Formats: sequence, structure tokens, C-alpha cells
Amino acid sequence: MTKGFPDKFLFGGAIAANQAEGAYQEGFKGLGICDILPVGKDRLLTIDPQLKKDHYYPSHKAIDFYHHVEEDIALLKEMGLQCFRFSINWARLFPRGDEKEANQEGIDFYHRLIDGLIAAKIEPIVTISHYETPLFLATEYGGWKNRQLISFFLNYCEVIFSEYGKKVTYWMSFNEINNIVKIPWFAGALRTEEDENPAQAQYQAAHHMFVAHSLANKSLKKINPKAKMGCMLSLSGVYPDTPNPKDIFGSYEFRRKSLFFSDVMIRGAYPAYSKRLFEELSIDLEIEKGDLETIQSYTSDYLAFSYYLTTVYSHDLKMKTGTGGPQGKKNPYLETSPWGWQIDPLGLRYVCNELYDRYQIPLMIAENGLGMEDHIDANGKIIDKERQNYLRDHLLALSEAIHDGCEILAYTWWGIIDIVSAGTGEMNKRYGFIHVDVDNEGNGTFERRKKDSFAYYKKIIEQNKNLADM
Ligand code: BG6
Repeated sequence: MTKGFPDKFLFGGAIAANQAEGAYQEGFKGLGICDILPVGKDRLLTIDPQLKKDHYYPSHKAIDFYHHVEEDIALLKEMGLQCFRFSINWARLFPRGDEKEANQEGIDFYHRLIDGLIAAKIEPIVTISHYETPLFLATEYGGWKNRQLISFFLNYCEVIFSEYGKKVTYWMSFNEINNIVKIPWFAGALRTEEDENPAQAQYQAAHHMFVAHSLANKSLKKINPKAKMGCMLSLSGVYPDTPNPKDIFGSYEFRRKSLFFSDVMIRGAYPAYSKRLFEELSIDLEIEKGDLETIQSYTSDYLAFSYYLTTVYSHDLKMKTGTGGPQGKKNPYLETSPWGWQIDPLGLRYVCNELYDRYQIPLMIAENGLGMEDHIDANGKIIDKERQNYLRDHLLALSEAIHDGCEILAYTWWGIIDIVSAGTGEMNKRYGFIHVDVDNEGNGTFERRKKDSFAYYKKIIEQNKNLADM
């Protein structure tokens, strides 16, 4: 039996600009790093900034959120949503990324979105960069390993804070910053160069992002002292395979490679264990005078994270990592999603406790959800029972975590409206409670249709105290 959620807890949904907006060149928008990624299995294999005629690039149309903003907000309002996490597409405001002046059409678009949400009584939660570094900053500057990106990012932040800073309380800087070492193109606009130590480039990029995050936090507070700046990590869970100490310590160390990022951004200093990590990876960080003080002075106000799955660490297996989190050994006690992700609601309670024990700052579940194919039946309905069960079971686990003592600000269901998958570029890996009529190649009417889960979530939000009976 669930204990219910506190009054100030927010039930929400989330999307990212590059996976939703489309209109990839409208309003003077420049290309972002995701605009050159085609649909399909080889999406991230060769990163070629040159667009090709025979490829379909899903972010170009996505779900055309850019032209459906008002309609989509009306649906979210009808669902009873209390908060909505979205990202600002950096290249919509700064087409190349290194300009001084922002593009007015881009600015206006996000005013419309934020004002629309506020009018619908939906709290806006903004991700400043959700895998959305302008492409030019990758091709001309080499991405985040280049220190100059700090000042380009800050200039971008100063514009968005002065435009929206008084309207938005919750901000987060970089989506899944720990993925810089796992999917470096997404997280840091990094391509591995020949003769380069990839770890050196990745941790150098991370250092620049830490400084940028802290300086952005400083600049936000000048505009709105009540605003909150969060860090955001991918923190799906990891269990050791056996009681073999090699599995136990191995999984602990593996996990700590992710927690390294929140350790720096929340505790405000490089942790003791990073010295050995850097030595082993032959990393020699360039840290400028004042950087460490900056990181220490402007730490994160809350920890936002994505949680989709848990996996199993075994010392004799090489772990892989994708968008949902790490992928190791299969856990025989868990069900698996159609895309191979292992579903573990109790793992969410475990991770919340793990993080709250470590940091004692508020947490936000910024992403959680189930990607699956949907079928429209003869009556035009989409009955998505598995998705509803996933939602219920994770919310139940979350309510237990709250009862355990964890402070949780919000839960934002990932892809509340169907969006393009980040990992594969597919449309048919659908997460939404709202269906969008568009296929993997961008064909369709883009019409919105409520799935069965739409009414289910609405009911949960209205009467959250009896989740177990739903
Ligand atoms: C997270 C990303 O890693 O996983 C999202 O922040 C992404 O952008 C989500 O969409 C789910 O992954 P996928 O590959 O199913 O879209």
C-alpha cells in the first residue's frame, strides 16, 4: 500500500528539443550535434557532419513539436500534469554557438512555450543542454574538450537567464553529464581523434563542463536568487553478479565512475579516488587558477537523474553503455523490455536511497519510462497496459523511497508525448501517453492521439493516495 506523495511533489513529463521539435532549420536555427545522426543501428558508428541525401535524420522533423506547442500544452494540461521538463535547443538561439547576439526567433519560441506552460499551471523545468551542443562547436572547436566552450555556454546561459530566469525555478545544466565517458558525442560533442587518449579528452571536457555548470549557477542566482540549478546524471542501477569480492568491489568501482560526476558537482571537489583513476587512465587535467574555487563555490542545488533499468556487473564481462544506462549480465529475476532493458521498480527505491544517503540534497527523477511499440486497435484505441504497469510500479517504489526519508522534488515521465529515440533514432520505440502519427522514416500526419495510459496517469495525479489499487 502506497503512502502517497507529499503536497509539494510534482508529477510531470519530459522531452528534449532535438527529439521533439523538428523544424531543424526554421527560424534561423543552426545544426546541432544530433541533427547529423541518421535513424538505425549505425546511428552512432560513424559520425559524419555531412548530411547525405539517402539518409533519414529523425531530428529534422521529429514530432514537429515546434508547430504543435499550443496543442501539446493543452493535452498536458488536460492530463493534469504539474511540471514539464524540456530542453532549449542551443542552436536555435545561437546557430553556430560562438555568436555574441542571440537569434530573436529562437528566444521568442521558448517564451511562447514557457508562457503557455505557466498559463496551464504547469511548472517548467529547463534542461540547458540535452545532447544539443551546436554542431559548429564540435567541428570547428572540437567540442567540450576545448576550454572556449565555457564562455560560449555562459553567454548562452546569460541570455536565457535574462529572458526566462524569473519565470523558471528549476534548471539543469547538462543532460546525463556522466555519459561523456560512455557516449561522448552526445554528452560532450566529442569525436575520438587519432593518436588521442580518449579518456584525457573526456575528463578534460568534463572539467570544462563542471566549471561551466558552476559559473552558470552563479549567473542564474544573480537574476533569480530563488532559482535552483541541478546537475543531471544517468543513474540506472548496477548490482554485483555474485558474492565474489571481485564482483562486489568491481561493481562498486564501476558505479563510482558515474558518481564521480555528482561527487564533483554536489560536494564541490574532485574526490580522493579520482587521483588514482586519472593515473590509471594517463590523464593529466589542465586546471586553471580559480577553477577549483569556482567548482567549490557553486555546487548543485539538487540532483536530477534518469533511471530506466538495472543491470548486473560481473568482473569477467565488459560492460556496455547506451542511452538507458549500463548493460551487463542479464538478471534472471527481472522482466526485460522489448528493447532489452531490464525493468526494476525496486531498483528505483534502491537508487534514491543510495543517492540521498550520499548527498542529502533533493532528488528529481528527470527520466523514467518504457519504450515499446504501440498498436492502434479497430476502435482507434491504444491499450498500453505494460506501460501503465511500469508507471504504477515505479511510482509505488518512489513513494516508498519518500517514506524511507528521501526528499524527491518531482517525477517526470520520459517521452510523455512520443518522441524520437535518442539511442536508435526510431519513432516506433514509443514512451508516450500521447501517440504521434509518424513512423521511423518521418511519414505520417503528426496527429496526436491519447493512449489508454493518458487517462491512467491523469487519475494517478488526481488521486495519488491509492496507487496500489490502480
Ligand atoms: C536518456 C536520454 O539517456 O535515455 C534521452 O537522456 C533518451 O535523451 C532516453 O531518449 C531513452 O533512450 P532511448 O534511446 O530509448 O531514446
